[in-house]
Amino acid sequence: MTNQPKPTTAPAQSKREPVLSLRGVSKRFGAVAALTDIDLDVHAGEVVALVGDNGAGKSTLVKILSGVHQPTSGTMSFCGQEVVLDDPGASLELGIATVFQDLALCENLDVVANIFLGREMSPLALNEVDMEVKSWQLLNELSARIPSVRIPVASLSGGQRQTVAIARSLLSAPKLILLDEPTAALGVAQTAEVLDLIERVRAKGLGVVMISHNMEDVRAVADRIVVLRLGKNNGVFLPDASNQELVSAITGASDNSVSRRSNRRQTASTPTA
Ligand SMILES: Nc1ncnc2c1ncn2[C@@H]1O[C@H](COP(=O)(O)OP(=O)(O)O)[C@@H](O)[C@H]1O
Ligand SMILES: [Mg+2]
Repeated sequence: MTNQPKPTTAPAQSKREPVLSLRGVSKRFGAVAALTDIDLDVHAGEVVALVGDNGAGKSTLVKILSGVHQPTSGTMSFCGQEVVLDDPGASLELGIATVFQDLALCENLDVVANIFLGREMSPLALNEVDMEVKSWQLLNELSARIPSVRIPVASLSGGQRQTVAIARSLLSAPKLILLDEPTAALGVAQTAEVLDLIERVRAKGLGVVMISHNMEDVRAVADRIVVLRLGKNNGVFLPDASNQELVSAITGASDNSVSRRSNRRQTASTPTA
């Protein structure tokens, strides 16, 4: 029997049609090449983690997908159709919902008002009772632990706020949801709760793109890990990739102080038989 290491690099091709597909997407801000020639596929019922150092282009990519920025070149397909997202409304209408890092919740308003914020006048508009019922329904689908939908968001924990922001994004019945650093500000228990939530969103058959700095969170929930470095694709990994592989792809060096430290930690935490 050969004792070859298991490949941890994800296969580039998949037979299922992706819900989202980017080919050769580039974005320049004047002289700055924020993204160069990016390819990205996300399937229904798949969590793709987007990782990379500061300035790697993660936020720019999310802003392109949410229609905030338009790519300088390249193509974007959604459910097999080539699309152009002129503004955030176009992205939302297509079925792409974004939870930005700042969550954009109104502290003084209650959970129901936050879930329906800005939708009061839309075709989704409902009366107060219907909005409350719909809010509970969304939160229950996520098995979310919110004490009441009539308390102000200011009194909720960081994890509960993230839950409200995710529930709000599900209101438009999207096919793809983008989460920018959903666990960045959270403690251990709340992080676990939000990761559970992401798994339930995936179980509903949505595609999920999650930006994260935390390799543990990424490995816990992602089906594939896409690394960006200096605005370019720098590898696609499966969640069983080692810290060293991920750190090398993120930093572009196999031997540096970050990878040495993470190796030492991994070696120290691996029990020897
Ligand atoms: N609106 C902008 N104008 C000019 N440069 C920008 C703008 N947004 C991002 N950039 C630049 O693009 C690069 C990628 O940034 P960003 O997408 O924010 O990276 P990340 O989210 O991975 O930290 C950086 O060099 C950043 O300075
Ligand atoms: Mg960013």
